[in-house]
Amino acid sequence: MKKGLFITFEGADGSGKTTQLNKVKTFLENKGYDVVVTREPGALETGKKIREILLHASEPVADRCEMFLFLADRAQHVETFIKPALIEGKIVLCDRHTDSTIAYQGYGRNQDIELLKSLNKIAVNEIVPDLTLLYDVSTKTALARVGSDKDRMESAGIEFHTKVRNGYLELQKENPQRIKLINANNSIETVFEDTKNIIMDLLQKV
Ligand code: TYD
Repeated sequence: MKKGLFITFEGADGSGKTTQLNKVKTFLENKGYDVVVTREPGALETGKKIREILLHASEPVADRCEMFLFLADRAQHVETFIKPALIEGKIVLCDRHTDSTIAYQGYGRNQDIELLKSLNKIAVNEIVPDLTLLYDVSTKTALARVGSDKDRMESAGIEFHTKVRNGYLELQKENPQRIKLINANNSIETVFEDTKNIIMDLLQKV
């Protein structure tokens, strides 16, 4: 039923994944592919409202509330946008997806990881990325890139972000086929070379 390709971009805030996603979009479009770009949280109308709470709430957001909001956003996003685009045969490039929840809410906020994996499964309803690019950067560099204008998640502190980074690395070890690790400490062009090689590998296989 699903004809397209689903590629997710993961990594710390400040890892440069969004820059790479946009470069991949141009690269694939120049090759004639039908590409759509999207993100979590907050791609569509419902998601934008959820995103506003998640990133800019003026009262403390309980960890479990945060978890359900990210998952609710994902369920809506997959059902109304990602799945239809894949059925139409598009390449979907998604800025953050299920692995963000495991890294941030699981490893970062200490929520039960096995439970999060089950909840993710419910949210995605069997749509799983064909490829996930994980941009790994030292936490210090990542936070320096983010700068001083931080949202609620970015303000969570270096200890939190170190746990998130280690969580991502753990996920990559568990899923080496799907998740490809990219050293994002390098220059944008070097990182893009690595990205392109992995994408071309995938395109040759399908
Ligand atoms: P965003 O501004 O989209 O950041 P970025 O450009 O780094 O992707 O903010 C999304 C924030 O939400 C980011 O700090 C990661 C966090 N997040 C989670 O904690 N769990 C999730 O499941 C998702 C999708 C994002």
